[in-house]
Amino acid sequence: MLWALDVADTAVLLVSPDGGLTHSNQRARALAALLHPDTPDPDPARLLACVPDAAWEVAGHEGRWIGEIETRDASRVLEVKVFSSVAGQPWRRYVVMSDVTARAARESELQRRHDELQRTYSRLAGAQEQLLQSEKMASIGQLAAGVAHEINNPIGYVHSNLGTLQEYIGSLFALVEAYQGALDSPDPVASRASMQAMRERLDLDFITGDLPQLLEESREGIERVTKIVQDLKEFSHVGRNESMRPSDLLKGLESTLNIVWNDLKYKVRVEKHYGELPPVECHLSEINQVFMNLLINAGQAIEDRGTILLATGVDGDEAWVSVADSGCGIPEDVQARIFDPFYTTKPIGRGTGLGLAIAYRIVAKHHGRIELNSRPGAGSTFRVVLPVRQPAADASPASAAL
Ligand SMILES: Nc1ncnc2c1ncn2[C@@H]1O[C@H](COP(=O)(O)OP(=O)(O)OP(=O)(O)O)[C@@H](O)[C@H]1O
Ligand SMILES: [Mg+2]
Repeated sequence: MLWALDVADTAVLLVSPDGGLTHSNQRARALAALLHPDTPDPDPARLLACVPDAAWEVAGHEGRWIGEIETRDASRVLEVKVFSSVAGQPWRRYVVMSDVTARAARESELQRRHDELQRTYSRLAGAQEQLLQSEKMASIGQLAAGVAHEINNPIGYVHSNLGTLQEYIGSLFALVEAYQGALDSPDPVASRASMQAMRERLDLDFITGDLPQLLEESREGIERVTKIVQDLKEFSHVGRNESMRPSDLLKGLESTLNIVWNDLKYKVRVEKHYGELPPVECHLSEINQVFMNLLINAGQAIEDRGTILLATGVDGDEAWVSVADSGCGIPEDVQARIFDPFYTTKPIGRGTGLGLAIAYRIVAKHHGRIELNSRPGAGSTFRVVLPVRQPAADASPASAAL
């Protein structure tokens, strides 16, 4: 039995009831020598001093104690197992020790790397959030010029209509005054011819026909400006810390189309095949950004003149919105790369290659996907598929950050 202990590859120390050492094996002596290099042939009983008092106590009650301890000078880590008989059993107590310094170092190195990775991941997540924001700000900046133009147009004709209205009102007042003069004269009937001449001179018939049109046109202009301002407000609404809400994707798509319309209107005809669309739990301002990137890409894919087909629908518990263009299409070998950040085939200054990467992330965050169907020369269809309801755990504000 004692011979067997001597060939064991861990240090074994048999302990007497008074706490002394009754036997130690070869490995125990080697371990004692390792821990006390300055003492020639150190007593292996010194190893027992490494065992914490609590370990003896626990082993006395439970039969065993297992743990790792550092030597007093912190130079080595030992794995210590104390085995003991418990009350009622014949006395038996022994300690098994092994030097696990290398393993502990590896584990702590692994832990350190894990912590570092965790920190890097958090930083990356933060950077991504910033990227999303800056891309959003950049696209808003890029759109601002277009939107300004869109607003400028109606404001321009409302302004010119107001000038015309002012003239008309001047004429009408002059006419009312002339009528009043005629009525006050002793013989109003005699003024009929001169009144008729004045009506013709002021072109009253034309004014009567034109006035309602001017007012209608001006009202439309103001409504268009109001709508664009509303859409822009909705589009740029930053609701990062809010939880996802059931939202009207169609409203989002339409307001986004309105915002990018200035970029599209000269070359694109938009067709709409809207099917059923239930409220979809999402951050609508982010989904709007996806729509914007897809619409701008579709417009840019159309060289001269073409069509963008917008369609919506629901499929089980998923809703979808697709943007299809009759543009240049995407070659098969390129299709796998278009969602990569910074992949672009557009000239410098026209594209940064972030649009689809951002769209992909936003949709993935919503537990959805973007499906692509494209044929070079024929056009491309991007289909955004989103679950109508988010999985329970992820609908919380905490998971809203990208
Ligand atoms: N509808 C489309 N038709 C054809 N090619 C497309 C279409 N949408 C995207 N692509 C291709 O995918 C590439 C990446 O698109 P993405 O929107 O990520 O970047 P970008 O449009 O080049 O630049 P950015 O969107 O940052 O201004 C585009 O450069 C283009 O080659
Ligand atoms: Mg793009």
